[in-house]
Amino acid sequence: MRHATIIGTGSYAPDNTMTNEDLTKLVDTNDEWIITRTGIKERRIATGELTSDLAYEAAVRAIQNAGLTAAEIDLIICATITPDSFMPSVACIVQDRLKAMKAAAFDLTAACTGMIYGMVTAAQFIETGMYQNILVIGAETLSKILNWEDRSTCVLFGDGAGAVVVSSTEKESGMLSSNLLSDGSKQALLSCPAVPLNNPFTKAETTNFAPSITMQGQEVFKFAVRSITENVKAVLKKANHTVEDIKYIIPHQANLRIIEQAAKFLDVPVDKFYLNLEHYGNTSAASIGIALDELVQNKQIQHGDKLILVGFGGGMTSGAVLLEWD
Ligand code: ACO
Repeated sequence: MRHATIIGTGSYAPDNTMTNEDLTKLVDTNDEWIITRTGIKERRIATGELTSDLAYEAAVRAIQNAGLTAAEIDLIICATITPDSFMPSVACIVQDRLKAMKAAAFDLTAACTGMIYGMVTAAQFIETGMYQNILVIGAETLSKILNWEDRSTCVLFGDGAGAVVVSSTEKESGMLSSNLLSDGSKQALLSCPAVPLNNPFTKAETTNFAPSITMQGQEVFKFAVRSITENVKAVLKKANHTVEDIKYIIPHQANLRIIEQAAKFLDVPVDKFYLNLEHYGNTSAASIGIALDELVQNKQIQHGDKLILVGFGGGMTSGAVLLEWD
């Protein structure tokens, strides 16, 4: 039986750092409000880089850390809600820049759960024996779909990319269990429209269209806490593990208070959750990959450590994977 395991990680964020103080020049907010409500101190905001540029840089690092060449990648999956274009996909742009000549490539949309959906999708191709090495990227330039006059959303998000190389192993390690959920009935909690219908039969109300994220913050908060709790419990149960077996839970980095509440519900110390949101804000599909790469680069994960990656986001979607690190 083949198992899916992570053999390399990479991440990248634009150099440009925007602090809470910088935001006070745009909207009526302050450092204290943002830190106490969210835990975020600063975020990276792209200045000219596209989602595919961030994705490419994270991908290069992940492939290098995996000890592979791009020619050995069989499939590229890019999770994003902020692609450069409807077509080509970000995954195809990255495939071209990497010269990953034998790779298939597609984008996947599951908002902030994108990295988890991408990893579980990759695992299916590996477990069936179809592919050996799959690059999964989460990449976003959320800054282009923010309303920079809406203080309730623009302070929360940032740009960045995280990537992993998922490969086939004969060992009984790697991805030990996974769980994916969706609840479209709650779609209004977090949304961002695409281009409206505009054809000879239906005229769009406006051609001056600038989509931006809208959010029902408190309802998203409750959904997030419930989702973390439910998905962590599900992957533990499926893998026949207890939370004591887990070294780190790496959550989607949305908000410190969400994580504190989830830690309470799960009855685990909050420092079991790895957090770096104070420096990046919420980077949607990129956040789990960036956090995982940071842990790997800091040598905080050793062979045999068990990790849970857990995401939640627009759709609404949520999911988790439980990994044993090779
Ligand atoms: N600065 C200062 N004041 C603000 C700001 C701001 N940036 N934003 C809102 N306020 C004000 C509001 O206008 C309101 O003022 P009022 O009482 O005079 O009307 C007051 O602060 C309280 O607003 P609430 O929305 O009730 O604040 P709340 O305590 O719920 O915190 C927050 C808002 C942080 C968004 C919270 O609801 C939350 O964490 N929700 C989770 C949402 C989240 O993390 N989303 C990320 C995307 S989702 C994802 O990744 C899956």
